[in-house]
Amino acid sequence: MNMTQPLIRGVPGSTFDRAQQIRRIKALLKKEDAVLVAHYYTDAELQALAEETGGYVSDSLDMARFGHDHPAGTLVVAGVRFMGETAKILNPEKRVLMPTLDATCSLDESCPAQDFIAFCDAHPDRTVVVYANTSAAVKARADWVVTSSIAMQVVRHLAARGEKILWAPDRHLGDYVRRETGADMLIWNGACVVHEEFQREALLELKRRHPHADVLAHPESPAPVLAEADMIGSTSAMIEAARSRPAKSFIVATDHGILYKMRQAAPDKEFLEAPTGGHGATCKSCAHCPWMAMNSLTTLEYALRHGGPEITIAEPIRAAAQKSVERMLRFAADQRQSVLGLGNA
Ligand code: 13P
Ligand code: SF4
Repeated sequence: MNMTQPLIRGVPGSTFDRAQQIRRIKALLKKEDAVLVAHYYTDAELQALAEETGGYVSDSLDMARFGHDHPAGTLVVAGVRFMGETAKILNPEKRVLMPTLDATCSLDESCPAQDFIAFCDAHPDRTVVVYANTSAAVKARADWVVTSSIAMQVVRHLAARGEKILWAPDRHLGDYVRRETGADMLIWNGACVVHEEFQREALLELKRRHPHADVLAHPESPAPVLAEADMIGSTSAMIEAARSRPAKSFIVATDHGILYKMRQAAPDKEFLEAPTGGHGATCKSCAHCPWMAMNSLTTLEYALRHGGPEITIAEPIRAAAQKSVERMLRFAADQRQSVLGLGNA
């Protein structure tokens, strides 16, 4: 027997097997002139791989921005389908691959383009603002696309101009923005299957057991949960809060994939998952998006090796969607400039 041969060689799922797979993926990324862009909700090993290979891990707005600015000819998007579509909308000349096209989103599913277009047509007096978690066809009908990190500022800006808003599809985020801005908003009835399951009563119980913990919540959570939060914000804002707030312990109401980055940002702090159950209740998603979970090293390697699945969008839809996505990116850039005191004045 050759004693130099590792005993675990070829055992599926073994550390050796994974290390080999990661090496293969790294080589394929180079060969294909590809960069890996991953969302915070994907598995920690995908996030780590994106970081190790010069790719990027972030929220949906920043993923779009990174893909736009990066010189690679191929973007590999580990996340859900609307994130891959956003990358393609902004980069028609690039090839956009995803580990799977089956990774959808309950918000996207709740808002079929034909129904949405009819709804908009019935309310021509309203400015149409859609959350990024929608199909390219829905974005194409919108005046504005927003993500959770910029929604509040955009709606406040539109309301200040006296515009009435048609908002889709997340009713919890829409309600939250309406409460905060006082804007006139007509809201579509969609929800995120992950955030909708967070439970106020069980959260209160956890808070009683951890009285010094701060609660960080994503605004897709229901209002009673948000009412108990010390901080409400996008995934990136939640990570920044974990880093910068003085608390040593946090209860986190969003997909638990985010804990990888939170622990990296604040290694000396404690993170607890917000409860999705409560007495006698069961959870379906249990704080992890079932579609994000479809991204794995195996599906990623397959996509790189076979050049697909690839995102394609009919050009008229892509071009129309690009206008509303770019409006958001320009607005976000202007906001950053004015925060830095670099306004046009
Ligand atoms: P972010 O825009 O904060 O990344 O959130 C995307 C998402 O799907 C949240 O469930
Ligand atoms: Fe969609 Fe919710 Fe999954 Fe985010 S966590 S992708 S909103 S289903």
